[in-house]
Amino acid sequence: MKKIVVLTGAGISQESGLKTFRDDGGLWKEHRFEELATPEAWLRDMDLVLEFYNWRRKQMYEVKPNPAHLALVKLEEKYDVQIITQNVDDLHERAGSKNILHLHGELGKARSTVDESLIYDIEGWELKKGDCCEKGSQLRPHIVWFGEAVSNIVPAIQISGTADIFLVIGTSLIVYPAAGLINYVPEESIKYLVDPSAKPTGHVSNLNTIREKAGVGVPHLVKQLLNEAD
Ligand code: APR
Repeated sequence: MKKIVVLTGAGISQESGLKTFRDDGGLWKEHRFEELATPEAWLRDMDLVLEFYNWRRKQMYEVKPNPAHLALVKLEEKYDVQIITQNVDDLHERAGSKNILHLHGELGKARSTVDESLIYDIEGWELKKGDCCEKGSQLRPHIVWFGEAVSNIVPAIQISGTADIFLVIGTSLIVYPAAGLINYVPEESIKYLVDPSAKPTGHVSNLNTIREKAGVGVPHLVKQLLNEAD
């Protein structure tokens, strides 16, 4: 069975109704990320950071997977599919994808501030001051903040190196180390980039750019890949 590795970003969740980060009206346009998604912000204003992620978590539970998420599940019928996502939403999980690696954390989870191996599912959409881990410390969002290590990048690099086909869906490829994963994909592997505003990536070999929204471009691409697998 051929291996397809899929790198997704906020763009795949945009048609579900979740904002991207850098599009017009994107998340960071309304909020300066220095105020919200950094360890310093957490120390400076825990209530604001908790409120920001509660707002995003509440939104996440009000939306559902879109045809792009669902098409990637269909791909599993004839390919060994591994998703590597920069997204912290659970839309790939809710769509039914089996192999998902989150690079930047998960909105539905919280972790201890004294022992980062202690990770908990958040009941409902609110994480509040006073919600503590079993060691009695305040729980924080299980999100990789700017300036923090992306611990899953090592397995992500290893997985990218095994791709026969590499799909990049809905990411501006601006934030490293995630944006560098495409450089670990074998030269001869076929790559597809699905993004209505895809920017030229001159240095990438065997790249097919599909300037479509994910909800249209991904189902079409999956249909083509399933036909080719026969
Ligand atoms: N379908 C496909 N792509 C889309 C769609 C859509 N419907 N709508 C927007 N896009 C594209 C945009 O053109 C853009 O290239 O999705 C990309 C979104 O880019 P960003 O907003 O930068 O999001 P992302 O690449 O996921 O950001 C990476 O930055 O802020 C951090 O941790 C955060 O994981 C995030 C990381």
